[in-house]
Amino acid sequence: MKVTVIGTGYVGLVTGACLANLGHQVICADISVEKIATLASGGLPIWEMGLEGLLEEARNRQRIRFTTHIDFAIEEADVLFIAVGTPSQANGDADLSHLWSVINEIATYKLTNKLLVVKSTVPVGTTDAIDVFLQHLPPDHRPIDVVHNPEFLRQGNAVHDFFHPDRIVIGCASETARNIMHTLYKEISAPFHFCNRCSAELIKYASNVFLAMKISYINIIADLGERLGANIEDVAKGMGLDKRIGASFLQAGIGYGGSCFPKDIKALKTLGLKMECELPLLDSTEAINNNRPRTIINKAKKYLGTLKGKKIGMLGLTFKPMTDDIREAPSLAVSRLCLAEGAAVHAYDPLISTYPVQGVTLHRDMYLAADACDAMFILTEWEEFRHLDWSIISKMLHFPLIIDGRNMFSWEYMRQQAKEYDLIYLSVGRSPICAGEAVTESCPENQRHLFSSR
Ligand code: UDX
Repeated sequence: MKVTVIGTGYVGLVTGACLANLGHQVICADISVEKIATLASGGLPIWEMGLEGLLEEARNRQRIRFTTHIDFAIEEADVLFIAVGTPSQANGDADLSHLWSVINEIATYKLTNKLLVVKSTVPVGTTDAIDVFLQHLPPDHRPIDVVHNPEFLRQGNAVHDFFHPDRIVIGCASETARNIMHTLYKEISAPFHFCNRCSAELIKYASNVFLAMKISYINIIADLGERLGANIEDVAKGMGLDKRIGASFLQAGIGYGGSCFPKDIKALKTLGLKMECELPLLDSTEAINNNRPRTIINKAKKYLGTLKGKKIGMLGLTFKPMTDDIREAPSLAVSRLCLAEGAAVHAYDPLISTYPVQGVTLHRDMYLAADACDAMFILTEWEEFRHLDWSIISKMLHFPLIIDGRNMFSWEYMRQQAKEYDLIYLSVGRSPICAGEAVTESCPENQRHLFSSR
């Protein structure tokens, strides 16, 4: 089939590249001349695992083109995807200005025999509103149908998730649309779930907010477990063996970030307010997550007394590994809190060379970021941090306090390292370790001498 994807962000570009790989003829259109020039010259405006190879193959097989000229992109297409950004507005509502400007542009073309597919995450009712708007046009400007086809792509895993979805959700009103979408995705072995447009839109929000809620839930259980001497990884494993709960998204830590969970919770809260439907679980999920950065500061203050005048080394700035995205990353709040407490903040992240928090000193090496620090925070579980040489770190740190906000090291492994190198290792939902001994509260007085400032 001939497919046009309007919007070449990580959803649009991944969708275009993957559909080309499925054998379709794809045009990716965007208003950004720079983005299109980068793509047309073989470059990548975003990083996603496997995307570069997919695009190269699609280009070599002449299955994908890039353009800023939306006219021929629309005229050529059998299926027209809209994958433009719908960022949060200040009041939590989704900003649909880009979406509606594309719809108004598309409406000036003859859409007969074309299927319009909205892939952008939009407030429930938006796709119906687009359908109503297009129904007012002359008959030859109306598409076959307007479909809502939400994506469930995780940044860093988007290509994998496109080809291996748990389900393909299609919200549409006609049998013809169902058949076209079935044909479009027929190479992908996953169950189709057909429903009306509103249900498809709500599935996206409800799924994302549920995942965020699951994370906030395991985080408060971790805080409770920590006070009880439990190990949150054992608790999560024991919970996850129950198929009704499921093992994924039970990784306790410093909380979720990214461009989706925070945005989708705000959008669903706004929808609840508009529909006069109380959604208290969303408020709690958001409040718990917003408080996570404070928990890491409190842990540090238990051992340092104060952060004023201290030097904090932060490893990892992005909201998760395998991405350069720092949108809503917990590191933003943690660094601001440290600076507000009067600490100096030094940081390293493999993919970050500029950082929006004024006062944070960036280093190009993880050891330099830790040098002469009074505490080292691990905020993103980058693979390279797993190979940290603790014999070096223990000599570099002014005070040997490691706070692992992502539980990226096994507790037993760090107990051994803490014993060998006289470290204090704190994490989330697990007992603190002082010089190799597990303690259930801040370092006992009789061990403080071990950690006289270096
Ligand atoms: C999410 C959804 O997973 C995806 O389906 C949707 O399409 C877009 O939003 P994404 O935000 O890219 O994807 O990343 P994800 O892997 O879900 O992680 C989101 C955040 O939650 C990250 O900050 C991650 O560190 C955190 N997280 C994830 C946890 O803290 N604990 C977990 O167990 C899982």
